[in-house]
Amino acid sequence: MESTPPATMLRLGDEAPNFTARSTQGPISLSDYRGRWLVLFSHPADFTPVCTSEFVALAKAAGEFAALDCALMALSVDSLYSHLAWIRLIHDMFGVTVDFPIIEDPTLEIARAYGMIGCDAVDAAAVRTTYFLDPDGVLRASTCYPAEVGRSVDEMLRILTALQRVHRGSCLVPANWTPGDDLLRVPRASVAEIVKEKNAGDWFYTTIPDKGAA
Ligand code: BEZ
Repeated sequence: MESTPPATMLRLGDEAPNFTARSTQGPISLSDYRGRWLVLFSHPADFTPVCTSEFVALAKAAGEFAALDCALMALSVDSLYSHLAWIRLIHDMFGVTVDFPIIEDPTLEIARAYGMIGCDAVDAAAVRTTYFLDPDGVLRASTCYPAEVGRSVDEMLRILTALQRVHRGSCLVPANWTPGDDLLRVPRASVAEIVKEKNAGDWFYTTIPDKGAA
């Protein structure tokens, strides 16, 4: 049996590998997006029902991502011309224009570099990954869904907003948080600080109001 190279797996905290590729918005490089948040996501195939529903939902929510200073970028193994034909059909069927770039990755070079699929995969049918990159191009969160289950745009926006809240390290995001809900204070880390707290548990569990993006 031939041995395959170990799968590359992008980990949280890694700088995302740069690439240049053809897209529905012309040639683009990941490095063009430095200074902005970016949601880079892959889909299994053009002209498939779940992917179509995701693209319609994301195109409709594009303004909400832009309001968070976040760009969207999609990727699949399909050719640029397939992407363009699909986007035209989405436009005609659903009345929405997908104007974020969709990259072609026919050789799976990008998908493999990001660990979106195994190194020995012969097709990309299982790919539905999402990478949340910060303005320095560092991976802050990722999700991986099976081909049969579409992503939640609300959850993508929630993850992005939560990442932005914690980005400067001044707060934490509790379970089931949505924007506007209380956040958590970073725990105190010295005896001198914890003995000053009024209640015994305050040093590790204190809620703080969400002041928004500020
Ligand atoms: C879909 O997007 O509907 C889909 C894509 C690949 C396999 C199964 C479903």
